[in-house]
Amino acid sequence: MKIELAHRIRELPPYLFAKIDALKTEERKKGRDLIDLGVGDPDLPTHPHIIEALSAASREPKHHRYPSYVGMEDFRRAAALFMKRRFDVTVDPLSEVICAIGSKEAIAHFPFAFVNPGDLVLCPDPGYPVYATLTRFAGGEPYFLPLRRQAGFLPDLDSIPAQVAERAKVLWINYPNNPTAALAAPGFYERVVAFAQKYDVIVASDLAYSEMYYESPPPSFLETPGALEVGIEFHSLSKTYNMTGWRVGWACGNAKLVAGLGQVKTNVDSGCFDAIQRAAIAALTGDQSGVARQREIYRERRDVLCGGLARAGFDVLTPKASFYTLIANPRGMTSLEFTARLLTEAGVVATPATGFGAAGEGFIRLTVCADKARLAEAVERLKALAL
Ligand SMILES: Cc1ncc(COP(=O)(O)O)c(C=O)c1O
Repeated sequence: MKIELAHRIRELPPYLFAKIDALKTEERKKGRDLIDLGVGDPDLPTHPHIIEALSAASREPKHHRYPSYVGMEDFRRAAALFMKRRFDVTVDPLSEVICAIGSKEAIAHFPFAFVNPGDLVLCPDPGYPVYATLTRFAGGEPYFLPLRRQAGFLPDLDSIPAQVAERAKVLWINYPNNPTAALAAPGFYERVVAFAQKYDVIVASDLAYSEMYYESPPPSFLETPGALEVGIEFHSLSKTYNMTGWRVGWACGNAKLVAGLGQVKTNVDSGCFDAIQRAAIAALTGDQSGVARQREIYRERRDVLCGGLARAGFDVLTPKASFYTLIANPRGMTSLEFTARLLTEAGVVATPATGFGAAGEGFIRLTVCADKARLAEAVERLKALAL
């Protein structure tokens, strides 16, 4: 029998990380001690009171049955309370909040509710690849908005041709940003609301990194006047509470957008394990001092990495938020060449920013998901390179 992949899979853009993965395997086989600053996955453990809450909830038989599609009412209330306390955003827990199996799940399913074949979806370049890939899966067409260093890695909404804006159904925004670590500048979200209202474009804001900041707390898009009429926002417990493996988050915002996402989810998944939602409630409503301590740890690490590399002469874009840092490629190297040389000559794993889109050319991305000693060692190894 002939087994053929569907066009949507065959037509996926080439997987740029494959070359890096192959090099990593090769170096490891040689017994090389690799310092992996490529992955955005916290190395710190989930906070103990969250683990306790899961442990207790997992023993209750009522939590062993199918969960609710939209999430437990208590979870949605806890998420709404978090939105109120942290951002002073009021969302109705019953109609404007939905539980997600990690924010990636909700981000991936969202286009299926609102994107028709032929619709354009405005996606940041570089950007989290799920926005564009799932747009294509849903039959839509991504239209990439380049994020440039000189523009603070914000899309230039005024440069979008009117005929593109008129065909656009969704605009994705993500600040703190992956991979650039940029923040939304004052006034940006107001411009986004005005654009959305002018062209009837849904705004999908990805706030997965809201609690990972080094200076002032980043705002929610939903704080902006008019945002609740045009937007939905995706939140995650993954990075905030070191819960990437637990798969829990939420989306909140305009009730029609939340309901549309809910209709897709009802047909695709059966919700998030109730005991995990109980643990998530403990995370969102419990003591937040662990999150603040963690921020201090990341800040110290950032200072070791960025300070060290800057002193060594690298062009480092020291971040104000997220756990990512962009480094400009030296001497006309491509992002892939620079990444490959770091890996094979220094044993340091980075990510080419081109893995997130063509406009990422010129940069590699490092994370601070390693302890200070390893980051200091990475700096020493990079200093020793003859680039
Ligand atoms: C920008 C961005 N959004 C969303 C996610 C998804 O996170 P999760 O599904 O763990 O909530 C990630 C994960 O790396 C990300 O970088």
